[in-house]
Amino acid sequence: MATATTKLHLSQIAPHVVQSEIRSMSVECDRLGGVNLAQGICDTEVPSPVVARAIEAIHDGYNIYTRLDGVAPLRQAIARKLARDNGMQVDPEAEVLVTSGATGGLYAAALALLDPGDEVILFEPFYGYHLNTLLSLRIKPVAVPLAMHTWELDLDRLRASITPKTRAILVNTPSNPCGKVFSRKELEAIAELAIEHDLFVFTDEIYEYFVFDGTEHISPATLPGMRERTITISGLSKTFSITGWRIGYLAADKRWTGAIGYFHDLTYVCAPSPFQYGAAAGLMELPRTFYESLSSEYQLKRDQLCAALTDVGLTPAVPAGAYYVLADVSRLPGETAREKARNLLRETKVAAVAGTAFFTEGRGENLLRFCFAKREHDLERACELIRSLK
Ligand SMILES: Cc1ncc(COP(=O)(O)O)c(C=O)c1O
Repeated sequence: MATATTKLHLSQIAPHVVQSEIRSMSVECDRLGGVNLAQGICDTEVPSPVVARAIEAIHDGYNIYTRLDGVAPLRQAIARKLARDNGMQVDPEAEVLVTSGATGGLYAAALALLDPGDEVILFEPFYGYHLNTLLSLRIKPVAVPLAMHTWELDLDRLRASITPKTRAILVNTPSNPCGKVFSRKELEAIAELAIEHDLFVFTDEIYEYFVFDGTEHISPATLPGMRERTITISGLSKTFSITGWRIGYLAADKRWTGAIGYFHDLTYVCAPSPFQYGAAAGLMELPRTFYESLSSEYQLKRDQLCAALTDVGLTPAVPAGAYYVLADVSRLPGETAREKARNLLRETKVAAVAGTAFFTEGRGENLLRFCFAKREHDLERACELIRSLK
């Protein structure tokens, strides 16, 4: 007989950390043989030096655990890239940590630096993993909404959200899902508040090379007074189309990297060894033009998708970066965003994600997120299918 006092139960937090809507849309899309613009998988080609060096590393026997902060060639390549592209000076021996994706970087940093009950501010619409990472560690996420469609920062709202329990602000730039790229002015304002209230700033800069129309990506750590309090998180999943390799990194003041490294070791041990060498080769060997063509190619994909959405009255908020579009889908049938996403999939065979996945209760019901990190052929087909919408 079931008893109310059994100790065989889920943790208290488990029911609050729910699996994303993205997976269920993907399953439904596969069942219908549709085009999946729900999931942020970039299935474009992996650059050849990255592949070649990873395979070589396997043959050369680099298949065992690495140093807990990652292999030296990758740490050095990251430090070089941070100096060249981001204007950050970091010591590859003490201030760089190779992580199991940006995801592992944020998790380890939160474990090392935050306590249960702390509050962390993040901007809405947010990336679900950010929210759930905090929730799973019993940290309270505090969502500060950006202005709908323009995604402008409301500084007064941000200021008002800071309490004595606030420990950090999490900045995702360029952002998933809305493609916002925080301006220098906005980042300076965030920095000023972080300094005034003595807060950490965690960044997620995984889409740093996906910026359009000449928009500049700025790393918050480079702003005055921010070096010691910023945990810069990024990775190669998106840049080299290696989401399954789990290669990310984090740069921070050496006061923090030791503890973060221990927690990363505890949860992930290390990022996969041969793939670390592959990523290092990519960072060292790929020319400037590789990154430039990344942004020009994705800008074309963005324009292609936005044009198709506009044609059928699903007005997109054209993103300045990353590779997702939030579109206004008020005209689709359905009471909720989830219903609208299912109706769209049924009618056009294109899967998108309900906007509500990226907002706290009650917002995002008229939005769907479409991903344009797709091979040309798939994106073309998706656009044709979208245009078939009556
Ligand atoms: C904002 C953001 N951060 C991190 C990730 C995952 O990065 P990684 O594969 O390096 O863990 C994603 C993937 O969709 C993302 O959108």
